[in-house]
Amino acid sequence: MKFDSIRSIIPQILLGVSALVMTGSAEPIPTAHTEFRPGQPWPDSRGVHINAHGFCLLDFEGRHYWYGAHKIEGKTEDEKNEAGVRCYVSDDLMNWQDQGLVLSVFEKDAHPDLKDAFILDRPKVIYQEATKTFLLYFKLYPPKSKGGKSGKDYAWVGVATSAKPLGPFEYKGYFLGNHDKFGTGDFAIFQDEDGSIHHIAVRKPDKALILGRLSEDGLKPVGEYKVLEGVTIKTEAPAFFRRNGKVYLLGSGTSGWAPNPARMFVADQLAGPYKELPNPCRGVNPINQLGPDKTFGGQSTFVYPVAGRKDAWIAMFDINKPEDPIRAGYIWLPIEFEGEHPVIRWRDQWDLSVFP
Ligand code: DGJ
Repeated sequence: MKFDSIRSIIPQILLGVSALVMTGSAEPIPTAHTEFRPGQPWPDSRGVHINAHGFCLLDFEGRHYWYGAHKIEGKTEDEKNEAGVRCYVSDDLMNWQDQGLVLSVFEKDAHPDLKDAFILDRPKVIYQEATKTFLLYFKLYPPKSKGGKSGKDYAWVGVATSAKPLGPFEYKGYFLGNHDKFGTGDFAIFQDEDGSIHHIAVRKPDKALILGRLSEDGLKPVGEYKVLEGVTIKTEAPAFFRRNGKVYLLGSGTSGWAPNPARMFVADQLAGPYKELPNPCRGVNPINQLGPDKTFGGQSTFVYPVAGRKDAWIAMFDINKPEDPIRAGYIWLPIEFEGEHPVIRWRDQWDLSVFP
């Protein structure tokens, strides 16, 4: 009997089986998914819970690539706990094959910035058609000892490139994103229709969201950053998407790894001014009893348009688990629109037929 058929009959047993799979005390069970199950363990094609956190997706030549931070078994978020960026590939967005690390911090010849980094987090990948290059950006916290600050007080933006979606990505250095000593926090990379690349980041220490344009090769900022007008509440975990000529920003509040209410903004252009919309979340996640005031227990990381479907967007969240990050989970939910207002309704399970 397939793992998925077991799951459709007795979800509780699934949770037990998946837990065994994830702790490595049982052989992985091959899995074929026919629906998304937000908040539940998500085994890859070998039956192992997907290990790619703070993630993004990229659609390239008809395949989906999921890039995320690979967390190390047994390490907490207070320790150096990432091995690098891991990639999974899928043709249907549900069933994912592990492709291994596309950027490793532990390679013998890894750059010292990577080897010594305290955390490598929230990787985002884009494809630059003009140069046929994949650009990988990530939050890179310097070692704890730097400047006597805690490794989590400020971050750089690391950049790596590859000619292939599965890497290996070559580290190209970092930028601060703010032209000062504090660097930035969470960020999004927005590739505009004209190919220009923009970096939108949480400025440290005041947590304003700032926008800067990157050079043609995408490796560093050019010119000054501007504060995003209209984003008047401290917002992190930013995820942008453009729909019907409007730019939407999905984000979270700032409470570390703990969940808080999601927020949504809309603007006519990337630089703003933004208008705040109501909290897009509706309903309750029955697994943890959390609703809109805690984003179902999740924190935004990405919004993905589903190629080949009309007006089809998936809002993607991490369920942070700082005490055991390798077992942190994922919430993917379709975005509905009430007029111009995006709505993200909890669903226990769903598939792509929800889109027209
Ligand atoms: C909030 C960020 O959104 C997370 O990615 C993580 O960096 C935590 N802060 C750390 O406290």
